[in-house]
Amino acid sequence: MSPDLHPGRVPDAPDAARSARAFGALYGGLPDGVWAAPGRVNVIGEHTDYNDGFALPMALPQTTRVAARRRDDGVLRLHSAREGDRITEIRVADLAPGTVSGWARYPAGTVWALAEAGHPVGGADLHIDSTVPTGAGLSSSAALECAVAVAYDDLYGLALPRPELARIAQRAENAFAGVPCGIMDQMASLCCAEGAALHLDSRTLEHRQVPFDLAAHGLVLLVIDTRVQHDLGDGAYAALRAGCERAAGLLGLPALRDLPADRLGEALAALPAELAPLVRHVVTEDARVAEAAARLAAGDTPALGPLLTAGHASLRDDYRVSCPETDLAVDTAVGAGALGARMTGGGFGGSVIALVPAALAPSVTGAVTAAFARAGHHPPAVLTAVPSRGAGRVG
Ligand code: GLA
Repeated sequence: MSPDLHPGRVPDAPDAARSARAFGALYGGLPDGVWAAPGRVNVIGEHTDYNDGFALPMALPQTTRVAARRRDDGVLRLHSAREGDRITEIRVADLAPGTVSGWARYPAGTVWALAEAGHPVGGADLHIDSTVPTGAGLSSSAALECAVAVAYDDLYGLALPRPELARIAQRAENAFAGVPCGIMDQMASLCCAEGAALHLDSRTLEHRQVPFDLAAHGLVLLVIDTRVQHDLGDGAYAALRAGCERAAGLLGLPALRDLPADRLGEALAALPAELAPLVRHVVTEDARVAEAAARLAAGDTPALGPLLTAGHASLRDDYRVSCPETDLAVDTAVGAGALGARMTGGGFGGSVIALVPAALAPSVTGAVTAAFARAGHHPPAVLTAVPSRGAGRVG
């Protein structure tokens, strides 16, 4: 099948040579290299990362590319292919939260976070291009940060371990861009491998590749972008995060990850009514991640289905981050034959993933599209997610 690949937003992936040519047209000469970092979908383990818990993301083939050339005068120049001719220019020494706005906060923040952590970085000319849809809950901002992080790591010979680069990218997003995200998206973009999902411990950043073979089981993973723009900066995400931290404090725990499942009932009875459902989601979601990773490791990919759907119910009813469009996409996909489906990412819109027998992918896509039309929603965009490699040099 050939699903609707985000018309107008995801054209064919620009290759490294194209990025290098665009760099030359803009700045003159050749870049020192081209680096790429992917967007992600999270298979399961939502809103667990900032609770020091577990997640199971995979990288998408859609990437953000950075063609870059080191400068020795301390000047950072940033250009996005989505922004016409406008170049943002600032001295690295002048970077501070609030000095850069819009999309450029993410790359500038990454350079700032490297410098702030004491790494010897200076200027560069950067040309940025991306096929990761924005606002779809597919981590376009992490892809942008991580592409710049790996480019700078090479340009300045830092050789930092990937988890350290992930912390730098997260710091850029938290402290420079003002978005209080966890670490999952950056770890996914930097550490995922082709054909695998990444089992992530968000406390220690230990991670391992879990084989995720869809084709061997005749399955595909559809990503249904509801086109409801998701925005983590609007306060709801921060409020949930604060609620979890308050609950952990009341329970006398460093984080909700430290609440064992067999003490959940007792903990729920002790907590204020508004916090108990948050805790129930986090603890049961950590258990679903463990179960999903075990099933995948055992080669039982279809067993993921019911876990996905149970995860969605928990996000809808306990964590309350779904919306009518994501609920409709999940219910319709499951009704049309998906083995399971759930919203993925932060919520409040964004995308849904559905595990679907390949033969049913066109009819599931058609059923969701028809249901959206009947409900008066914007048509969704659907793509097929293929577990892809993490960030690195591509040219
Ligand atoms: C967003 C954040 C992540 C994570 C998810 C929810 O994607 O950036 O850190 O918290 O939401 O699982």
